[in-house]
Amino acid sequence: MAGYISDDSRKVTTHRLFEMKQRGEKISMLTSYDYTTAQIVDGAGIDVILVGDSASNVMAGNVTTLPITLDQMIYHGKSVVRGVKRALVIVDMPFGSYQGNELEGLASAIRIMKESHADALKLEGGEEIIGTVKRIISAGIPVMGHLGLMPQSINKYGTYTVRAKETEEAEKLVHDAHLLEEAGCFGLVLEKIPASLAERVAKELCIPVIGIGAGGGVDGQVLVVTDMLGMTHGFNPRFLRRYANLYEVMTNAIGQYVNDVKNCDFPNEKEQY
Ligand code: KIV
Repeated sequence: MAGYISDDSRKVTTHRLFEMKQRGEKISMLTSYDYTTAQIVDGAGIDVILVGDSASNVMAGNVTTLPITLDQMIYHGKSVVRGVKRALVIVDMPFGSYQGNELEGLASAIRIMKESHADALKLEGGEEIIGTVKRIISAGIPVMGHLGLMPQSINKYGTYTVRAKETEEAEKLVHDAHLLEEAGCFGLVLEKIPASLAERVAKELCIPVIGIGAGGGVDGQVLVVTDMLGMTHGFNPRFLRRYANLYEVMTNAIGQYVNDVKNCDFPNEKEQY
């Protein structure tokens, strides 16, 4: 089946996402980390591509998102931007590039924008980083917030379980969501929180709220591309729908290639000069 191709082939902007929320059109978002995948994802009609710091896990094999560096995020960002014509491209600011000091955060943000040519940035956190968010926005850089499960804080939580199930954490999340909107964020990701809470936030905010593991009552959905294509193995959270089993497809194809080489079936006469 071909992708849902919008008849509007203009480049997606943050303003278009806002209009989509206003008219109740859901926003589709996936991660990408490289040129070839980004070309396919964009060509299939996705609205937003996130160059997620999940690259640390799925591209580099790290256990957490913490080790990925600013230089590495810029490399992934540049590669994706070269493959995209229509989708809005957002790059994650990596752990350690913005949490400490507002001016350092601004400098990191400017580097990503200048060197990757991305359209926007995403930062994890609420009140604790609001000064940095405001500085980055005041430099003319669109910012998306990220609340709920924040993988860059895994060492604080200790687990990747659902966040904000208790009232106190849920109320802080709602408060932080409003602060981010007031600071000028153009959108917000909510990760792994109860669906009812995510729906409440989406209703209270004017900016688009994109969920991952946050139910269907939000304005759009995001998944990690390697997970939804079934390339990753052994990661089966309840929220993940697999649209293909590329692990099997790729393993079979590579196994066939190995056999063909071993049996002198590849290359054949037509496959040589
Ligand atoms: O890094 C990432 O892939 C993300 C998504 C899970 C939203 O932040």
